Formats: sequence, C-alpha cells, structure tokens
Amino acid sequence: MLCYIVLAAGQSKRFKSDVSKVLFKLHGKTILDYALEAIPAPKNDIFIVANFEHEGYKCIPQKAQLGTGHAVQEALKQIPQKYTECIILCGDVPLIERSTLRELVESVSDLTLVGFHINDFTKPYGRILNNGEAIVEYKEASQDVKNNSLAYSGVMKASRKVLDETLPKLKPHPELYLTEIVEKCRGSRSIIFKTEEEFAGINTRADLAYIERCLQKKWINKLMEQGAVFYNPETSSVRHDTNIAADVIVHPNVQIGRNVTIEKGAVIHPFTALENCHIKEGVNVGPFAHIRGDVVLERESVVGNFVEIKGSKIGQGSKVKHLSYIGDAVLGKNVNVGAGTITCNYDGVNKHKTVIEDDAFIGSNSTLIAPITIHDHAFIGADTVLSEDVEAYDLALTRAPKKIVKGWRKNRSAD
Ligand code: UD1
Ligand code: CA
Repeated sequence: MLCYIVLAAGQSKRFKSDVSKVLFKLHGKTILDYALEAIPAPKNDIFIVANFEHEGYKCIPQKAQLGTGHAVQEALKQIPQKYTECIILCGDVPLIERSTLRELVESVSDLTLVGFHINDFTKPYGRILNNGEAIVEYKEASQDVKNNSLAYSGVMKASRKVLDETLPKLKPHPELYLTEIVEKCRGSRSIIFKTEEEFAGINTRADLAYIERCLQKKWINKLMEQGAVFYNPETSSVRHDTNIAADVIVHPNVQIGRNVTIEKGAVIHPFTALENCHIKEGVNVGPFAHIRGDVVLERESVVGNFVEIKGSKIGQGSKVKHLSYIGDAVLGKNVNVGAGTITCNYDGVNKHKTVIEDDAFIGSNSTLIAPITIHDHAFIGADTVLSEDVEAYDLALTRAPKKIVKGWRKNRSAD
C-alpha cells in the first residue's frame, strides 16, 4: 500500500513569521492545503510531518528539526507497516499538479525522483547526477556539480525497503539530507521530468507574491479556455472556486473573491469587487460595484456604479444603477431603484429585511427603514423616508412642502 509523507516541520526562518509559512493563507486556503489537495489519495493515507495540528489529517511531530532525512525517519516510526511504498513531498509547493503525483504512483521503480531542468545555475536546488545515481545538495556542491542543469524537485517515491535500508546510514551535515538516500539505494530507479514552475517553493515573501501571480495565471487561463473573456487579465484576480461561463466579459481590474458564479452573457465592468454571489445570464455589474454576502442577481438585472449589494436578491430585469446600498433585501421583477436609495437594514442591534415587489418604483434618494415591504407597482417619490409598508399601486411621499420666502436674501442685514 502507498502512503504520502508531506514534510512541513521546517522553521520558516526566511519567511520571517511567527507561524509556519505553510499555514499562510493564499485566497482563503493554506499553502499546505494546495499541496494536500493535489494528492490523489484519501486523507487516511497522508501523513504530515509538522509541529502543529491540521484538521482532518494525521500530523507527526518532529521536535528537533534535524533535516528532511530526520523528518522521514520520525514519520516512519509512526506509519503502519502495511504501507510498503511512500511518496514524499514538501508542504511548501502549492503549484504541484495532481497528474504528476499520479505518474509517480504508476512508477514501478524502487526509487523514483521528480526533477526538472534549470537555466539559472545559481538556483540552490539539489542536483540529480548520473541519471539518478545521486543527489548532491547545493550547499555541498562543487562548481562542476552546480553546472549540472537537472534539479531535484523535492518529490520522490521510495519503497519502504529502500527507506529502511538507507535512512539509518545518513551522515549529519549537520542536517540529515533525505536526498542522500539516493546514492545509498541498491534498487532500481527512474526520473520523471517536469517544469521548474510546478515546484516553485515558498521560502520568502517575494516567493509568495510570485506564487500568487502563478496561481492567478493558472486559474484565469482555465476560465478563458472555457470561453470567458478577460480584458487585461493581469489586472484582475479570481479564486480557485470561481465559476464563469462562456461569453461572460470581465473588464480590467475586477477582483473576484470566494464562491462566485457568473452565467453566460453577463458583463462585469471595471473596478468591481465580487464575493459570494450568483450572477445570472445577461446581467450587467459595475463599474465600481461591490457585491458580497450571498447575493443573487437574476437574469438581465443591472447593478451600476457605486452600488453595494449585500445579502440580497435582485429580481429579473430590475435596476439599481447608481450610488445605492441594498442590504438584506429581496427585490422582485422589473423594480427600478433610483440613484442614492438606501435600505436601512441595521438598527444598531439587529439586521432587518426589505422587500420590494414586482414593478415597484423607488424614487431617487429614498431611505427605506427595514423591516419594510413595498408592494407591487407602488411608487415612492424621490427623497422619501419610509418606515412603514406601502400598498400595491399607491404613491408614497414624505418630502417636506416647498416654502419660498420672496426676496429673503435682500432683507438680511449681514449680506
Ligand atoms: C529540498 C531538497 C533539495 C531540493 C529542494 C526542492 C533536501 C535535503 N533538499 O531543499 O534537494 O532541490 O528541496 O525545493 O531534502 N522540513 C522538515 N523538517 C526538517 C527540515 C525541513 O519537515 O527538519 C520540511 C520543510 O518544512 C519543507 C521541506 O521539508 O517543507 C523541505 O525543506 P527545505 O529546508 O525547504 O529544503 P530545501 O532547502 O528547499
Ligand atoms: Ca524549500
């Protein structure tokens, strides 16, 4: 049986943080989780060497961090004998692909290394020599060895027999290098060749920024392959769970957070922030709109500039086009919400609901104090402040009567 050992007990010295770098969150997911989710096996078959707990996984502590070889020695003490093969990977490589691990699973050699060719010989990777006869760590390498372009990715598969035979023979440098098992292995070996980008590790904050760009590129490219249009994709960001249909247009500078689905033909205009929302066919959003907290925009609805929508449903064909806050509201079909309308959903203690039924018209600068229902076809005059329901087809107005004092300014002595 095959198990996975994920190395994550390092001290993250170069990351300059009190917590382990692998627990740093990138778009809501830890760096470690990206690596874990690439593993094509149930959680029971995964062992993390770490001095912290990670929910749902078996973590094996490594009290003194004496190197990657020591980490695997500690792990094997606790891994049941039924596991006769191990794939060992690092917890700080979030771009690793599931397909690579699948290829490793298929390999029949006693020891299989994953490597890649580099152009920049100053990169401090271990170097794979002589078709996998040995790996020499960069720190220990002569200039000749450094000039070898085949780098070790940090990922290998080894039979338990190989590990049991070679790990006790590791020499301290003073760290115990896992990579030293390669020269001590007597079994068959092979190499799987991949690209450097897939194994970009996170050691510093600059690496983090690089990985972030790679993830964005990967996710946005996938959405574009599925038919979404991104104008100037470098300026926008999405998440791993972003779901965008074909023929959606995403203008520059759109920031998409967790749990967003956009259906075909919708257009997202520049500088819009979306999170936790479902945008249906033919909807227009933005520019400068903020949609968050469980929102549904029904077909052909329009949310315009400087509008915030939170926890609400906007019915089919309804329009909220300018400068409004709509919170905890349910709008029916073909509602028109005038510029500057505010739903007052919060009384300082509790949140309340606003309901605006089909074909209602809300005049500009209206203030709707929830809980409140504006029934269908009701008409609210501009600048109205309402705290009570309005019946169907009625007109509601709270505007103060106009007062004109003729020539008032002329009689003011100060002027
Ligand atoms: C390691 C490899 C190197 C390879 C590179 C690829 C070794 C000795 N070197 O170097 O050949 O080219 O990865 O990125 O394996 N860790 C522990 N316990 C420890 C030390 C480290 O759990 O005592 C964990 C770290 O948290 C990390 C992983 O092991 O996730 C790798 O350690 P790191 O120090 O980053 O090794 P590299 O110098 O990158
Ligand atoms: Ca590393």
